Amino acid sequence: MNVNDRKFIFHDLQKIEGYIDPPDALVFTSLLHAQQKKAFEGGVAEIGVFYGRSYFLMRKAVGNDGRVLAVDMFDLDDSDGVCRQYERFLDNGIRLNLAVDESLVIKGDSTKLDSKDVLEKIGKVRFFSIDGGHMLHHVMSDSKLAMDVLADHGVIAFDDTFNPQWPEVTVGVADFLREKGDSFSAFCMTKYKTYVCRREYHDFYERVVLQSPELLAFDHVETEFLGSKVTRLHNPMGRRMIYELMLRSGLTNFSERIYR
Ligand SMILES: C[S@@+](CC[C@H](N)C(=O)[O-])C[C@H]1O[C@@H](n2cnc3c(N)ncnc32)[C@H](O)[C@@H]1O
Repeated sequence: MNVNDRKFIFHDLQKIEGYIDPPDALVFTSLLHAQQKKAFEGGVAEIGVFYGRSYFLMRKAVGNDGRVLAVDMFDLDDSDGVCRQYERFLDNGIRLNLAVDESLVIKGDSTKLDSKDVLEKIGKVRFFSIDGGHMLHHVMSDSKLAMDVLADHGVIAFDDTFNPQWPEVTVGVADFLREKGDSFSAFCMTKYKTYVCRREYHDFYERVVLQSPELLAFDHVETEFLGSKVTRLHNPMGRRMIYELMLRSGLTNFSERIYR
């Protein structure tokens, strides 16, 4: 990851309303870059785009020629009651000077999709971010879809896995790992997300997380989760507080330094 990528994560991306925070942005980018280094093929997909914060992070990592599928209802209203979610997503691409391939946007309920809808747009998927509906039926349906289209070397990133605000996500991800545990295993966890791959690739991705220079800023805590060894990336409270203070004081340009 070069200086430019870090500036993008810590400065440019912070202008986009959304949820992915620097620790997960560093994990996404490290995993996508590691896949590219190995020439792992496949598209990238996200369910739950909101205004594009994690979409544009993935777009930046794969380049404007990469295939990035965006799935969202795009039906959220602004405070004046007018729905501008899709328009604002496109505007954010212009602000960041990053492409949105509108032929690869699906506006609608992800639970109504099947694998064909994804495969005909981007083929097999090497990185699938699940951040759409947060109830059990959404997680069950979205994880099945991701599993059905995932390349052998693919990764699924589940959002809000241990957020007490969304307990059914926790249940959905645990059910998925218990039911599909013969084939899939978690290899990394952060405060918000759980990263899963096929068992054959567990050691590869575990090494990426352990060795990526961008992730050395975190404590790597070895944990066991439903039959697999998982690296939990711990981001101490003190650093999170300093980071928030820097953001609020408009010091996004310097916030990168506390994550070195
Ligand atoms: C938490 S936000 C996603 C945050 C985003 N990934 C980011 O980085 O800022 C959840 C999004 O999921 C979308 N969503 C909720 N239920 C959905 C469904 N059933 N199908 C598709 N999108 C859905 C919402 O419209 C919303 O934009």
